[in-house]
Amino acid sequence: MPDTIAVLDFGSQYAQLIARRVREASVYCELLPWDAPEEQILALGPTGFILSGGPRSIYEPGAPHLQEFILASGLPILGICYGMQAMTQALGGKVDASAKREYGSAELEILQPGGLLDGLSRVWMSHGDRISRLPDGFTAMARSNNSPYAAMVDASRRYYGVQFHPEVHHTSGGAEIIRRFVVDVCGATPDWTTESIIETSVDRVREQVGKERVLVAVSGGVDSTVAAALVHRAVGQQLVAVFVDNGLLREGEAGEVASALRNALGTETILVDASDEFLAALRGVRDPEAKRQIVGERFIRTFEREARSLGGARFLVQGTIYPDVIESSAPERSHADRIKTHHNVGGLPDGMDFELVEPLRYLFKDEVRAVGERLGLPESLVWRQPFPGPGLTVRCLGEITRPRLDRLRSADAILQQELLRAGFLGKGGKTSQAFTVLLPVRSVGVMGDQRTYQETAAIRAVTTDDFMTADWARLPHELLALIASRIVNEVDGINRVVYDITSKPPATIEWE
Ligand code: XMP
Repeated sequence: MPDTIAVLDFGSQYAQLIARRVREASVYCELLPWDAPEEQILALGPTGFILSGGPRSIYEPGAPHLQEFILASGLPILGICYGMQAMTQALGGKVDASAKREYGSAELEILQPGGLLDGLSRVWMSHGDRISRLPDGFTAMARSNNSPYAAMVDASRRYYGVQFHPEVHHTSGGAEIIRRFVVDVCGATPDWTTESIIETSVDRVREQVGKERVLVAVSGGVDSTVAAALVHRAVGQQLVAVFVDNGLLREGEAGEVASALRNALGTETILVDASDEFLAALRGVRDPEAKRQIVGERFIRTFEREARSLGGARFLVQGTIYPDVIESSAPERSHADRIKTHHNVGGLPDGMDFELVEPLRYLFKDEVRAVGERLGLPESLVWRQPFPGPGLTVRCLGEITRPRLDRLRSADAILQQELLRAGFLGKGGKTSQAFTVLLPVRSVGVMGDQRTYQETAAIRAVTTDDFMTADWARLPHELLALIASRIVNEVDGINRVVYDITSKPPATIEWE
């Protein structure tokens, strides 16, 4: 095991960002709920703890708190925002509601130069409560207009607290604070590199599967492709790649991806056309979650059948990545406010016949891409834009039928062509993800002298670093005009095009 930092999530929307900053400092970390059992947390053999922010007030009954054994461990702790308040309360200090909520950029006055905060001046604040009395042994490291204790330290116990958010980009130099904490204070060795990730994953896969045959379900997406490449590196010809055409792929995708995989992986890749059975299972289904469940389940059934026809396989590779895992187990997110079931994790049916091999389970997307490039996969695959597991189901709102899917595919192909031509897609492109959504909304139009009454295409294009938050792309009006006019002129059944100008949050990137 590499040196590991345990990041404890108190319900912050930024918890994953903290974990990413630690990884960017080449130190391994895992994100766990604040109330994870002692055995689970200590099993990581952590070198230190980072406590995230959170939406609650520490003095409310039942609010998340710092578990006793964490203090008893004697390891260094960095508390961020709510995490700092949880630490303060646990150590006998005092937290009160602040007279004024502090939100946004704030000027930081450093009171102890030469320490963790060196070089910081503007930080990002987002809190209603603040510390009114430091616990014994602590001194103030910095203050802001609204927070007399914007940062605190007890160097003898290696305890640090910051009221601001070093993990967000708005705190310039914030990543360096996290690096100093994990490397300088905790003493973690920064050896979590692309090479060591590959080495560790290859060893784990070999250990898990031994001499058995392994199936990989490739979808053409980055994750399953890199997962396949890693497993191939580990067990060579024991791996058989199966590419299922579920009828829900983008235009030309099935053939393109299957041949790219054969060339890139050097693995036997079997193309299975299962589109009829997927579409039959989806007939009449309109509910987004039901669609996701059906596609997830069909996938597994198809692979089971394929495995049988290949003479059996005990293992199935899945391209589950760390954000999928985290989002499915985040604290304070009950079933009721689960946003979407990402089928890699949530939608697997019970009674599955495979043991899963998930070599990317602890990796973030940027780490997956770096691994893919290092393994020699072509840029076109590594930098392909994300495509959801449930495929076009989640972009074809309302009922899924072949004619509607074809309509959506044709409109989307036009969008992709024009965006690529204008430099808005691909590695270094100006948008992170762009696609067409077909709405089950018909409106009246006029073409030539004829009245039309047809469906609507919505264009979605976003910019984002991490897909957890996103902004809508400011595409030039001329480009939007060209795309809209081509879609209406060239695609039967669409007479209106709209552009989605909502960010995430409050919207999500996909429409379902
Ligand atoms: P949302 O819509 O949740 O999407 O803002 C965030 C990112 O995740 C992709 N996405 C999925 N990926 N299985 C996946 O592998 C899924 O079920 C799924 N749903 C959404 C989406 O395309 C975006 O990049």
